[in-house]
Amino acid sequence: MNIVVLTGAGISAESGLKTFRDNGGLWEGHRMEDVATPEAFAANPELVQNFYNLRRQQLRSDEVKCNAAHIALAEFEAQHKGRFTLITQNVDDLHQRAGSNNLLAMHGELRKVRCLNCDAVMPYDEAITPQSQCTQCLQLDCLRPHIVWFGEMPLYMDVIERVLQSCELFVSIGTSSVVYPAAGFQQLAQHRGAHTVELNLAPSETASRFDEAIYGNASTLVPEYFSGLLD
Ligand code: APR
Repeated sequence: MNIVVLTGAGISAESGLKTFRDNGGLWEGHRMEDVATPEAFAANPELVQNFYNLRRQQLRSDEVKCNAAHIALAEFEAQHKGRFTLITQNVDDLHQRAGSNNLLAMHGELRKVRCLNCDAVMPYDEAITPQSQCTQCLQLDCLRPHIVWFGEMPLYMDVIERVLQSCELFVSIGTSSVVYPAAGFQQLAQHRGAHTVELNLAPSETASRFDEAIYGNASTLVPEYFSGLLD
């Protein structure tokens, strides 16, 4: 069976990382439009860099660890005989730490940066400062977070469209389904004949479109649901 899983911030909520929309509309104390748009970066690069520097640093804290849901997906992928594609909207590295392989981080990755001068993308675990240097073109003060901001094109869209076309089971986990194009993946898969399932704490914006929905904490639901698929 060809399975596609889409994850959002809810899968990392029990790993010590705050979701985007569960905290009165503020993300770690900021309005999203003040830190997650190209306009915000142009207007106040220091604020935006500091914000992502803190998020990058937070990932390295001892409190942030992958949870049973990330692990269950990686273990399922290792045992599943058919195709398995994990699409994540998350920019944390918890799926990577759990050992997921066929992973598409469509909104970018906190632990990578992009050079505004030569476009190179490189792993980066430090704070970006004006003294930071691109390891490819060696220019100074030209790095930005490798994050897809509002108004920018998500990554891997061609691959994602292809896998959704042949998808037989689509599982959406821990996303409020308000941000497109990800919020539209369920319908694309369903039109192609896939069975679609929502695993979330509460009904998402598009909950009524799913064929099946189970509500609760990801760390409980995801291991249960995926071990059932292996039986
Ligand atoms: N288990 C399962 N689901 C949970 C849990 C949990 N423990 N805690 C919260 N949730 C659910 C919430 O009910 C909510 O529906 O996770 C969802 C999180 O929604 P958002 O905060 O909107 O996050 P997400 O859907 O990933 O946001 C999409 O928006 O800000 C942008 O680019 C950013 O990738 C992000 C995108």
